[in-house]
Parts: sequence; C-alpha cells; structure tokens
Amino acid sequence: MSGHRAGPHFLQIPGPSNVPGRILRAIERPTIDHRGPTFQALAKEVLAKVKPVFKTEHPVIIFPSSGTGAWEAALVNTLSPGDTVLMYETGQFSTLWVELATRIGLKPEVIAGDWRRGVDPAAIEERLSRDKEHKIKAVCVVHNETSTGATSRIGVVRKAIDAAKHPALFLVDTISGLASADYRHDEWGVDVTITGSQKGLMLPPGLGFNALSPKAIEASKSAKLTRSYWDWGSQLGQNPSGNFPYTPATNLLYGLLEACDMLMDEGLDNVFARHERHGEATRRAVRAWGLEIQCQEPSEYSPVLTGVVMPDGHDADAVRKVILDKFDMSLGAGLGKVKGKMFRIGHLGDFNDLMLMGTLAGCEMGLRVAGVPIKPGGVQVAMDYLAGNA
Ligand SMILES: Cc1ncc(COP(=O)(O)O)c(C=O)c1O
Repeated sequence: MSGHRAGPHFLQIPGPSNVPGRILRAIERPTIDHRGPTFQALAKEVLAKVKPVFKTEHPVIIFPSSGTGAWEAALVNTLSPGDTVLMYETGQFSTLWVELATRIGLKPEVIAGDWRRGVDPAAIEERLSRDKEHKIKAVCVVHNETSTGATSRIGVVRKAIDAAKHPALFLVDTISGLASADYRHDEWGVDVTITGSQKGLMLPPGLGFNALSPKAIEASKSAKLTRSYWDWGSQLGQNPSGNFPYTPATNLLYGLLEACDMLMDEGLDNVFARHERHGEATRRAVRAWGLEIQCQEPSEYSPVLTGVVMPDGHDADAVRKVILDKFDMSLGAGLGKVKGKMFRIGHLGDFNDLMLMGTLAGCEMGLRVAGVPIKPGGVQVAMDYLAGNA
C-alpha cells in the first residue's frame, strides 16, 4: 500500500517485537570508541546486568549476530566433528537448528514431534537411558517454539537427563522465550542458553547471546569443531575488562542496558505474569471465534504467541494479507509444513492490555473481512477476561 498511513503500525509477529521509545532513545546516542574507557564501563555494566535476566551467575557472551549465529556458537564451542546430538522436533525452528547442526558436521538424532506440543521429557529420558556408551554428547531443545506456540518444560527435561544419569550437555534455545516466559539457566542446569535481542528483550534484531555453565566452558577447551568468529575463548578473555575481540554492536548495547533496567523495574515475575495473562486472553478469543489453537497441550501453551489454525479451505496467508492491507497489522505466518494452515499472534515484549485489544480486534475484523466463518465476540470475551483479572 502506498502513501501515509495514520496511526501506529501493529507489529504483532512473535518477534521482532515492538521496541519501546525508552530503548529507541537509548540506542540513538552517539556511537563511541569501543576501546575507550566510557565503552568499557558500559560493557562491564551490561555484561553484569544481563545475567539476572537469564537467572545465571556465570558468563553471558554477546555476539553482534542474529539468533542463528548464537545457535551455531553454542554448537561449535562445545562439540567436535561427528558428535551425535539428540534434538527434539517441536516445529520449524527446531528443524532449522537440526539442519544447521548437520551442515557444520554434527550427527543429529531427532526425536520426531507433531508440532502441536513441546518436548516430551520421557522420550528424552528413554533415549538417553539406552545410550550406555554415552555417544550422545548434547541434548538440544527449543524452549519456546515460535513456529507453533508451544513452550517446553525445561526444568522437567533437565530432570529427565539426570534420571537417565547421562553426562550430555544441555543446550537450550530460548530465542523467543527469554524475558517473556519463565527461564532459569542455573537452576535448570542448562549448559548453554541461546537467545537473541529482538523478542522479550525488546531490542531491534542484532544481538545473539550464549549464557554458559562451568561444564560448557570446560567442554569448550577440548571441542574441535572449527570456530573463529564464534569462539568463546577470546570473549571470555576480554569481556572482564569491558572489551570484545571485534567491534561490538555499540548502540544495541546501550539499548540492552536500558532493557535490563526496564525488566528489573517491572520485575521478572510481573513480566512473566503479564505475558501469561495476555496468552490466556488471546486463547479465550480464539476459542470464542470457534477456531483451534495450534498447541494442543494446555500445560505448554506459550505466553509469547498463539498459533491460530484455519478452518479447512481457508488460507491463513490470505487472512494475514487482508489484516495488513485493511488494518495495518503484521501477524506471523505459518512456517514450514504449517504454511497457510495457521497464523501466529505475537503478544510479547513491550505490550499491554490495550495493545492486545487492538490486536485481537484487528484479527476479528480481518477474519470476517476475509470471509472466514467465525463466531463474532472473541474480542468481548478477551475484554471480559482482562477486565475481570485487572
Ligand atoms: C525459537 C527460535 N529459534 C531460532 C530463531 C532464529 O533466530 P534469527 O532469525 O534471529 O536468526 C528464531 C527466530 O525467530 C526463533 O524464534
């Protein structure tokens, strides 16, 4: 569509999320010498302040990268060519991670899933228990599967690994989970936590993160996959003095500092509760429309996004196009094997009740304009829920 469109665009994809004005203003500051004392003070502060967001006391490494880079970094620093890694198919993102692992010379063994729930901890325990020779070197799972809206129970997966008495490393992608859904790197015994800047952290895309455990750092000393840009060693050597081995994303780090302050001001538990509440309101609206939710396991409903399944004969991408054209709102597409069959409503990041009501109104109007046979009134149901649980 050409020409000026009045009012804000609604960016309701499940990341990148809306970047709040406070963070935009922080990023806007002049770029400074990344080897000077002012930057070193900033870097030390931000590297310390980001740790509580992961609930860790161990080092967090920050790359100028997207989440995919942080995926690769986690693997190349801890594993060696030909290593077997146990991966779980939760949806399109877990599938892409398997492809990446294969390309860099690992041997993924994939536990198949139906894209409608999270990781089954019992299946992980069963497979690890049979691996008496400990050929499996790492277990890799996606915490919040952004393509479906299912959130896996990472603490329970940890217990499954422990129950199997297996020494594999535990690598978790929480690219769309961190700072929106409860996450505990240390308590859950995660060895590498992978995330990106553009979702719960409310920043533009451009930062990739690896939170480490002492076991992961130890593994990195003998891991043999080729690495240079992604090498943790040079980061771990230089970060304590506020330095990076190459030019960091200076302005995004200003934004990250602001984001950490905002999250701590609100309180992480309040952030998680806000997301849970918006997830519940959204699901009530979807059910009231008479539509199906992609995630079929209530204990794994994502607080970050909701996948909405289309009735047979209706194309989700056509609905998304109507909503973009008529109401200036972007919704997430169905990815991979669910393309056209579902769309995704993002309710994450810097987001409040009135933004959710606008989002759901845009969906309800768009579904009607697109001729999808829904029952009207989902917006009212969501509003009743929010008002009743203010
Ligand atoms: C769960 C998950 N993993 C990995 C990625 C890939 O991250 P990026 O697109 O930042 O490279 C995404 C992106 O949306 C994601 O949601």
